[in-house]
Amino acid sequence: MHIQVGIIGAGPAGLLLARMLHLQGISSIILESRSRPYVEGRIRAGLLEQGSVDLLTETGMADRLYKEALVHEGIELLFDGQRHRIDITALTGRKVYIYGQQEVVKDMIAANLAAGVPILFEADAYEISGIEGDRATIRYRHEGKDEVLTCDYVAGCDGFHGISRDMIPAHLFKGHDRIYPYGWLGILANAAPTRDELLYCSHDNGFALFTMRSATVSRCYLQVAPDENVDNWSDDRIWSELEKRLGKHEGLTISTGEITQKSVTAMRSFVAEPMRHGRMFLAGDSAHIVPPTGAKGMNLAISDIYVLAKALVAFYKKNDASLFDSYGPTCLRRIWRAQHFSWWMTSMLHNSPEASPFDDKRRIAELYTVATSVAGQTLLAENYVGLPFEA
Ligand code: APR
Ligand code: PHB
Repeated sequence: MHIQVGIIGAGPAGLLLARMLHLQGISSIILESRSRPYVEGRIRAGLLEQGSVDLLTETGMADRLYKEALVHEGIELLFDGQRHRIDITALTGRKVYIYGQQEVVKDMIAANLAAGVPILFEADAYEISGIEGDRATIRYRHEGKDEVLTCDYVAGCDGFHGISRDMIPAHLFKGHDRIYPYGWLGILANAAPTRDELLYCSHDNGFALFTMRSATVSRCYLQVAPDENVDNWSDDRIWSELEKRLGKHEGLTISTGEITQKSVTAMRSFVAEPMRHGRMFLAGDSAHIVPPTGAKGMNLAISDIYVLAKALVAFYKKNDASLFDSYGPTCLRRIWRAQHFSWWMTSMLHNSPEASPFDDKRRIAELYTVATSVAGQTLLAENYVGLPFEA
């Protein structure tokens, strides 16, 4: 089978690309190694920038989002026994949306399948070849058989553990990596949110984040060791630690309930350069990872695809291949700024086991600088709602 664009991975990146190409009459197929229930049930982050929501709206995939997402205009930073609200919307004129990544993925799968865009689930791509020549080949295994797909271009939207990134020859490839000496224990609970806005708490015991998925479901995170065993965390221990890190503040009482999911994730920052080799483009987590503190992972996958779809459309509609060359550099400018923001939020809010007493005091002073100055709050708010998309 030959198709214009072969897409590996049915995460937000691959699914959005397929949709944007379809709307322009460009054919694609998505190969996804996991099953549909697995992909639709995978718990990930849940904050969308206004720009991401605008693109989902333009591509006709935001109907349910507008009914179910929680629209937020501010966040709170809790540190040194104090609460500081950052009024994101007053500072930027923009809002953020709380809507789980797996809900975005469900909406994108439904839109693609309804339009007849093929998504092959349990189709494991194991070889990409020909990307330096005049047509690319993807070999994959589906329903017990080895299959071959040829395509003009390959979109490597196969996440951090995919195969695409390894296709870039070693002498051209550079990976920029940073590992953090902590991870997050994340839980989902049948509990009303502790507060109707997100609470970012920096405490001597470590960071905690109170977020949510709906009016009845809380999502909370606790800073833990990167290799922490989740079995060490009973429900009681989790709630008591969350309560401790939330601290005692007037008007704030922790809301608890049945914990329905818990897992530990290590944290890293990673950027792959270049993002294109010949006929293959990397997008989303295959090209970069951010620590979750800034909530940028899904939004960066979406902004990469905004740029990539424009480049492919220019080629197929106007025979203009020039945007292929600028794809990586354009994305990387925004990616590095999101990397900086994610690193900044992470290092400002977590207490590192590697920090000296000086570092700890300097970090709290930094939180005061940001939270008590309009300039500081604005810097945080502008990055939190997301920088403009660039094409
Ligand atoms: N063949 C087919 N599919 C593959 C292969 C393969 N060899 N390898 C990986 N995949 C699939 C994975 O199963 C996954 O569904 O690629 C998909 C990649 O999706 P995501 O990991 O969701 O990546 P992306 O679309 O870039 O979205 C980034 O996901 O991890 C979060 O924080 C991250 O929010 C960010 C978002
Ligand atoms: C989430 O809701 O999962 C979430 C929200 C904000 C963050 C990180 C995670 O900064």
